[in-house]
Amino acid sequence: MIGSSDLEEDGISIEALEIELHKGLRPILFYLIPDFQNPTGSVMSLAKRHRLLDLADQYGFLVVEDAPYRTLRYSGNELPSLFDLNPAKVLQMSSFSKLISPGLRVGYAILPPAIAAQVIEFAGDTYINAPFLNQAMVYRFIQKGWLDPHLAELKKLYSQRLDSLLAALDEQLKNKGIWNHPQGGFFIGFTTHQDLEIAELLKKAERIGLQLSDGRGFFVQGGQNFIRLPFIFEGMLYGILAVLLSFLMLGLLGNTIRFEESNLLTYYSNLQLDRVFAAELIITTVLAVISSFSAVQQYLKGKLTVN
Ligand SMILES: Cc1ncc(COP(=O)(O)O)c(C=O)c1O
Repeated sequence: MIGSSDLEEDGISIEALEIELHKGLRPILFYLIPDFQNPTGSVMSLAKRHRLLDLADQYGFLVVEDAPYRTLRYSGNELPSLFDLNPAKVLQMSSFSKLISPGLRVGYAILPPAIAAQVIEFAGDTYINAPFLNQAMVYRFIQKGWLDPHLAELKKLYSQRLDSLLAALDEQLKNKGIWNHPQGGFFIGFTTHQDLEIAELLKKAERIGLQLSDGRGFFVQGGQNFIRLPFIFEGMLYGILAVLLSFLMLGLLGNTIRFEESNLLTYYSNLQLDRVFAAELIITTVLAVISSFSAVQQYLKGKLTVN
């Protein structure tokens, strides 16, 4: 059975969860995004982190901490992750799609040793074939020492975009709804005072080159007056371009991918990936250039604004 929890400004409602547990609910896994939640950007308070982990101990469930936005903090102080607080009870996951470039779809999980083998086997049976080329890109990116400076760049860029969107909301939409002021992540959650004509809104947004999601998709019930506002949009396009171009350079320079000290699998160690690598990168780079070009055109025409 799958259930849901109410979300408050400082994370999930622990009271509501406690009531359900008292009534007899016995979860096996509890999934949440404690840092810069998607879609609201909210962060779970330290007190709630402790209370959730106490409940996990008391009622014997595991907690899945999905943390792809955790490192993307632009201001304020980091709180300990759930995994830091109780590694025996928490499965922590993250995604390089958020940390290096969208579309990579390479992530990782840090698991309690007791269940690691089971999860690895289940994952293998589920996805059949991992994206080896993308894993190779991530490996190379980290091995080259590019991740930390790249994250520093992303933080600078995204925090400026966050500030611009907050200023634009203050200036233009003050009487139309309420929103939070996240200190990181990708999203601001905007709740309008009145229900929205969602289909109409999505169409209008698309006409000006903005792809919004139907707010109802984020809720079990309701969401008629909710809009998730991503503030990193153009950065993602330039990010794709920059990363693909750097990989392309690597491919073209005949920089064969070899993984001597890799625990990322002997799979790669004997593969000469450079030709496939270069071909795939040329195609994806051309696509990225085309899509960036159209975004830049729209930007120059002043169309990429929030109305
Ligand atoms: C909280 C969270 N977890 C996981 C993902 C998926 O990441 P990936 O791009 O690696 O599939 C997303 C993507 O939007 C996300 O917001």
